[in-house]
Amino acid sequence: MKKQYSINEIAQILNISTNKLRFYEKKGLINPVRDDTNNYRYYTEENLVKIQTILMYRTLNLTIKDIQNLMKNCTKNNTINHFYNQWEVINDEMQRMRLIKTCLEETMDLIYESDEYNFLNSIIKSVKKLNDIQKIKNNWKDRWNFDSWAKTYDESIKENKGKLKIYKNYEKILDEVFKKAIENTKNDMKLLEIGVGTGNLAKRFLEKGYNIIGVDQSREMLNIAKEKFPKLKLRLGEFLKLPFENNAFDCIVSSYALHHLNDEEKKIAIKEMLRVLKLDGKIIIGDLMFENKKNKKEILDSFTQEQIVEVEDEYYSNIDFLKEEFKKHGKKINYTRIDQLNYVVKFY
Ligand SMILES: C[S@@+](CC[C@H](N)C(=O)[O-])C[C@H]1O[C@@H](n2cnc3c(N)ncnc32)[C@H](O)[C@@H]1O
Repeated sequence: MKKQYSINEIAQILNISTNKLRFYEKKGLINPVRDDTNNYRYYTEENLVKIQTILMYRTLNLTIKDIQNLMKNCTKNNTINHFYNQWEVINDEMQRMRLIKTCLEETMDLIYESDEYNFLNSIIKSVKKLNDIQKIKNNWKDRWNFDSWAKTYDESIKENKGKLKIYKNYEKILDEVFKKAIENTKNDMKLLEIGVGTGNLAKRFLEKGYNIIGVDQSREMLNIAKEKFPKLKLRLGEFLKLPFENNAFDCIVSSYALHHLNDEEKKIAIKEMLRVLKLDGKIIIGDLMFENKKNKKEILDSFTQEQIVEVEDEYYSNIDFLKEEFKKHGKKINYTRIDQLNYVVKFY
């Protein structure tokens, strides 16, 4: 006969209260058998395993509603989706806390430096800055819908679709990013790729045994990358909210991704990259750029209206702007022009 447990036994085994067990039952998460004669609850081994799973999900801070959904539809896909959602919530909260901590530190310094009559002003200024940054971080949206593009992305690169033929030197650009990243470095360096997409750049590092982790804001892109390269470590994340600790990487690489952020967002992305980069680390970015405003004007003047519309749908960087921003943080720049619109830039 199968072993059965009373509510007190289960509570004791799992070190939880009987009220908690009744609560999970009320929410439909578990359904112990009732004894016909005395109406006592009895739990099977399967119930025990189920409760352990619920407790594990609660440890990960999943809501009761999420757990209900997970229990109903316990597929790999559904589980990873719930975990991704949770990961996003936690990462957002950590980002928010980090910002508040920095704001408090900066404000305390300012208060020390202000006199008795001006210190409130310092607080107002700092808090406004904090709110502005939060707003930018939270407002970035994928208006290109990369999730829907993921399955056909590799094909469309080969076909080099679009009026600007921006992918004509795709392989060359990725090779150049790889070359600059591994120059004068050790094999055990820790690498981060942002906007990893379907993993074509990461593949180069993976094949040579480098320790690389890829981040992308598109779950579908991550799914394709994982299908292609099961050993590639991947995380859901954004340029503006990198899900990593301070000073974690020796090198950050990225290709064809930064141009999805406008200048204000780029300023924050640069700070965020430098936060997770070691102090002597480097960043290599292969992307669509203009050298400066003059060069941009000359190129746009030579373009058809359709080509201009394509450029203006995104935010090609201005190398002069990137240079200034990185300079503020003590980083130098060198770059290689690949073609009229594509550059590989190194910040070190
Ligand atoms: C044009 S694809 C390039 C993919 C890959 N790096 C390559 O070179 O083939 C742009 C990728 O950047 C990702 N991306 C765009 N904006 C991002 C952001 N703010 N944070 C993280 N990833 C982003 C997209 O989801 C997409 O996978």
